[in-house]
Amino acid sequence: MTTVYFNGSYLPKDQVRISPDDRGFLFGDGVYEVVRTYGGKLFALDAHLARLRFGVCELGINGVDVDALGRVAEELLRRNELTSGDATVYFEVTRGVAPRTHCFPDPPVPPTVYLQAARFTPKDDPTKGIAAITVPDIRWARCDIKTVQLLPNVLANQQARAAGVGDALFVRDGVLLEGSHSALFFVLGEEVRTAPKNNYILPSITREILLEICRSSGIPARESSLFLHDLPRATEAFIAGTTTEVMPLVRIDDRPIGDGKPGPVSRRLQQLFRGRIP
Ligand code: PDD
Repeated sequence: MTTVYFNGSYLPKDQVRISPDDRGFLFGDGVYEVVRTYGGKLFALDAHLARLRFGVCELGINGVDVDALGRVAEELLRRNELTSGDATVYFEVTRGVAPRTHCFPDPPVPPTVYLQAARFTPKDDPTKGIAAITVPDIRWARCDIKTVQLLPNVLANQQARAAGVGDALFVRDGVLLEGSHSALFFVLGEEVRTAPKNNYILPSITREILLEICRSSGIPARESSLFLHDLPRATEAFIAGTTTEVMPLVRIDDRPIGDGKPGPVSRRLQQLFRGRIP
């Protein structure tokens, strides 16, 4: 039986009781994180906790000790025998349980805090890559906060599934932004390109690591908007994220990227990223 963490206690998952008045359930009023482990060790934990801290702060959710959650994640790995091999830890913090009002509960209520660790097996083969479709970005204008309001991402990913491809890429005003749960990169004119960090994308931790790898390995890289009309000139494309690592995109909509196989820059970045795993 999976042991999870819920509001201060470790307990069997089937004993968790989440109130129907939880604002996460009623309003999607909460934030989350997904942290990957390699060989049982949490990868880039501090960056994930910093983003969680940013999220709760932006939403004005008080009373959560984000620093302590790193130790909770480690304890969950131990209790679930995940101290070797690959796993993910899911963190969620909602504004808590209160009678339904659109404004924040007054007086404030304690936040709901939930963490779960689970064995992880990658979905797609990074040596083969995947195809993707583009979809209109119907999300709100604060995509930089990792909220649990993921319906547009769910619908986009389902659309990809129905189209028989691996992911959907959000396009807003002709600009390619990110995948349904991944950052997005292109290789254009020998240069790695990814959308600039702003309120229309999640500040992906993998994206940050890859940009740093490019800088330190002498791979030219630039944060600059990528327009749909640039796509025919892209020689490579890939998505990246905690559960995606570096996944080449070999086709977008009806157009093969490059020669329709994972390209040399994507393959090199896959290797260099792997080299960052302690
Ligand atoms: N999602 N963009 C979006 C919209 C995401 O949901 C994610 C991650 C990323 C990649 O961010 P990072 O490199 O920090 O994982 C980009 C997680 C994995 C999820 O929803 O499961």
